[in-house]
Amino acid sequence: MSRYTIAALPGDGIGPEVTAEAVRVLHAAAEVHGFSIETVEYAVGAAGVAEAGDSLPPRTAAAVRDADAVLLGAVGHPSLAAAEGRRRPEAGLLALRRLLCAYANLRPVVLHPALGHASPLRPDRLAGVDLLIVRELLGGLYYGEPRSLTADTAVNTMRYSVPEIERVARVAFDAARGRRGAVTSVDKANVLEVSQLWRETVTRVGQDYADVSLEHLYVDYAAMRLVANPAAIDVLLTENLFGDILSDEAAVLTGSLGLLPSASIGDGPGLFEPVHGSAPDIAGRGIANPLGAIASAAMLLRHGLGEVEAADRVEQAVADVLAAGARTPDIARPDEPTLGTRQIGELVARAVTS
Ligand code: IPM
Ligand code: MN
Repeated sequence: MSRYTIAALPGDGIGPEVTAEAVRVLHAAAEVHGFSIETVEYAVGAAGVAEAGDSLPPRTAAAVRDADAVLLGAVGHPSLAAAEGRRRPEAGLLALRRLLCAYANLRPVVLHPALGHASPLRPDRLAGVDLLIVRELLGGLYYGEPRSLTADTAVNTMRYSVPEIERVARVAFDAARGRRGAVTSVDKANVLEVSQLWRETVTRVGQDYADVSLEHLYVDYAAMRLVANPAAIDVLLTENLFGDILSDEAAVLTGSLGLLPSASIGDGPGLFEPVHGSAPDIAGRGIANPLGAIASAAMLLRHGLGEVEAADRVEQAVADVLAAGARTPDIARPDEPTLGTRQIGELVARAVTS
């Protein structure tokens, strides 16, 4: 029997509530598919600052490297909004991504048929939306040196090397092979040298994938295309900051940020987390939507552990529970009854084991 160790990093705000449900579902999937999962909790974000004065405490950093995969809830706390250095909750997340060598961030955006009403787009624009954003996660402005801030001047550096572009491009082309076979690479090559190198390199990598089509879009046009014709996009490949912005734009198409998962993969154990933040306004009330965290657990099974059947089963359970009308407040119509975080988690776990 395969045994896996999962480092669970619930983090801040609604993170602990939604992570508990994702862990519940992981255990249900393990039971059905005949493997065993041990989950051990560690602090990150504001919880790490509270525990050790560091948003990525040394104990957490040591544990994640030895885990088979890492499941994260959310980081961010209003009391630390002005904190500096490693006391910033977001700094813990960035350090974690780097520590795990997680250079490719996968954000699938799928529309659940029952939730079209929640989208800001007209239904005819939504038909067929099924896209995957592949965002480079360890380069660009987020990490580039030099960086500095003085009273009157600030500097950040957008820097990419060919190997950094190649490795994330391969992730996108490989993913496209298992989908509709089309990569849309997004850059700003009409202005930025970094984007010129990006475009050249992605084009060269694409030559190894004769079966996958490749188009290049400027990021401003891509932002427009995402709302004008999102169904036309299969895999969207882009650098770190463009990907940060476009993935929020894409997420809102589904009308339900609370449903969306992400996987950050690379040369170490994968990091899996819902796209939503720590939502301090509803933390501790038991009403947060756990489906993004549960869908992230499905990505963990698929990409982190290679337990593909278990992943399929969890994704199907999420779809079934939604189709049966189970709703947290964020995705309910005004006239629909709502369920709490734990009730939804239990329904999904039951759907997995039944
Ligand atoms: C995300 C978040 C993070 C990012 C923040 C919290 C540092 O917005 O995962 O998209 O910008 O990468
Ligand atoms: Mn973001």
